[in-house]
Amino acid sequence: STTACCDFILFGTLGDLARRKLLPALYQLEKAGLLHATTRIFGVARDEIDAHTFKEKVHASLIQFVGKEKVDNVVWERLAERLHYCGFELSQLSDYSILSDALKPNNERALVSYLATPPQLFATVCKGLSEQQLISPHARIVLEKPLGHDLESSREINQEVAKYFDESQIYRIDHYLGKETVLNLLALRFANPIFSDQWSHNSIDHIQITAAEQVGVEGRWSYYDDAGQLRDMVQNHLLQVLALIAMEPPTRLDAESVRAEKIKVLRSLRPISHDNVREDTVRGQYGAGFVGDKRVPGYLEEEGAKPASKTETFVAIKAHIDNWRWSHVPFYLRTGKRMAQKRTEIVISFKPQPHNIFHETMNELPPNRLIIRLQPDEGVEIQMMNKVPGLGKQMQLKPTTLDLSFDQTFENQRIADAYERLLLEAIQGNQYLFVARDEVEHAWHWIDGIRNAWIQTGEEPKSYPSGSWGPASSVTLIAHDGREWDDDF
Ligand code: BG6
Repeated sequence: STTACCDFILFGTLGDLARRKLLPALYQLEKAGLLHATTRIFGVARDEIDAHTFKEKVHASLIQFVGKEKVDNVVWERLAERLHYCGFELSQLSDYSILSDALKPNNERALVSYLATPPQLFATVCKGLSEQQLISPHARIVLEKPLGHDLESSREINQEVAKYFDESQIYRIDHYLGKETVLNLLALRFANPIFSDQWSHNSIDHIQITAAEQVGVEGRWSYYDDAGQLRDMVQNHLLQVLALIAMEPPTRLDAESVRAEKIKVLRSLRPISHDNVREDTVRGQYGAGFVGDKRVPGYLEEEGAKPASKTETFVAIKAHIDNWRWSHVPFYLRTGKRMAQKRTEIVISFKPQPHNIFHETMNELPPNRLIIRLQPDEGVEIQMMNKVPGLGKQMQLKPTTLDLSFDQTFENQRIADAYERLLLEAIQGNQYLFVARDEVEHAWHWIDGIRNAWIQTGEEPKSYPSGSWGPASSVTLIAHDGREWDDDF
C-alpha cells in the first residue's frame, strides 16, 4: 500500500466538527482505499458509552452528513472494524492511562492525535499523551481553531504545545487550505506562464477576496460573540488565501518553502492603525431581513444574544502588501454572515488597456478579470472582450466569459471536502497545507492592530439588513478608489 499506516486518535469525537466533517472525511478516505489496512481509529470523548453505541453514533452521523443513500454498507463495515472508543474526562491527567491501555502503543508507527476540542484542553491533552509516553518522534498532533483570540493567547497555546511536540510534528488546520480551488490557485499561478508573467503591479490593478455567507451564527452565539468576523474568518481563512495569491514562487512544493513565502507576505502587510482604520475598514452587524424568501432575525435577536453586543458579523478591509511585487495594488477583503448569497471568490482585476481604438462603439473597455470561485460551485473564469459576430460597419464588442467550471471540465470527478484532503495529508505526514506557528503569529499581529484601532477610535459596527451585501459604507470604501465590488453575478 502507498498509504502510511498509523493510529488515529480523534479527541472530541462526539462533537459537532467530528460529526459534520471529520467522521464523514474518514469514511470517504476509507471508501477511496486511502487508509492503510492496519490503521486504527480511536474516538475519545467524555461520555461513558460502549464500542457498540459509539459505532451506532458514528453511523448516524454518516447517514446525516454523508447522506443516507451514499453510505455504502461494505465501506461502512470496513470503517467500523477500525473504530474504537475511549471514554474519559479529558481534563483528568490520570485518565489517559485508559487510552494508553486501549492503544497498546507500538512506537514504530505514527500516532496522529487530532484535537477537535476547545483550545483550553490542548495543554492537558499534550501532557496526558506525554505522561503515557505516547509522544514518540513519529507522533503528530493536529490542532483545530481557534488558536487563540489574539497574539498573546495564541503564543501561549503554541508555547504549551511546543513543550511536547516539535514544530515539525504540529499540524495546524485552516480548512481553506484543503479546498480544491485554493490548491488550484497554486496550479494556476505556477503552471501557467500567461498568469505567472502577469502576476504583479505591472499588470494587476487590484484584487478582491470575498467570503460571503448566508448563515447567521447558527446557535453558537456566545462563541461567536467573543470572536467576531475579523477573528473568525479574516485572521485565518482570508489571510491564508491572500498569502497564497501574493507569495513569491516557492522553490519547491514542500512545507518549508511554501511557508517561508507565505510568512514574507504576512510580514509585509501594512499595519492598519487609528490613523487609517476609518477609511480602510468597515465593521457591520446584521439586522433582521430576508435571506432568500426566509425572514431571519437580527444578530441581537438571535437565541442567547446579549442585546448590547458590539461584535461585528461583517468586515471589509483595504489591505496593502508593502513589497516590490504588490506596490500600489490594493487587496480588498470582505466577509460577512447573513449576506445575499453564499459566495467565496477571488477576483484579480487587470489594468486597463493604455489606449482604446474601439472608442466609437465602446467608450471604455472593461478590464480583464480572472475570477477564482471557491463556493458555491468551484471554477475559474476569465472575463474578456470579444467582437460580436456580424457584418455591421462598426466593430461591436461585448464582454464575454471563458468559463472553466470544475463540474463541466472534470465531469464525474467528485470534489473532495477540505477535511478529507487535510486528514489524508496529516496521516501521510505532509505539512505543506498546514499553518506554521510564525504564520499564525504574524496574522494575529496584524489583526490585533485593526482591533486596537477600532477600540481607540470607538468604531462601532454599522447595521446592515440580512440578505444584503453588507453596510453601504463597504461600497464607499472601494468606490472611493474609483472601483467597485464584483457583485453583478
Ligand atoms: C469557520 C468559521 O472557520 O469557517 C465559520 O468558524 C464559517 O463561522 C466557516 O461559517 C466558513 O467555512 P466555509 O468552508 O463554509 O466557507
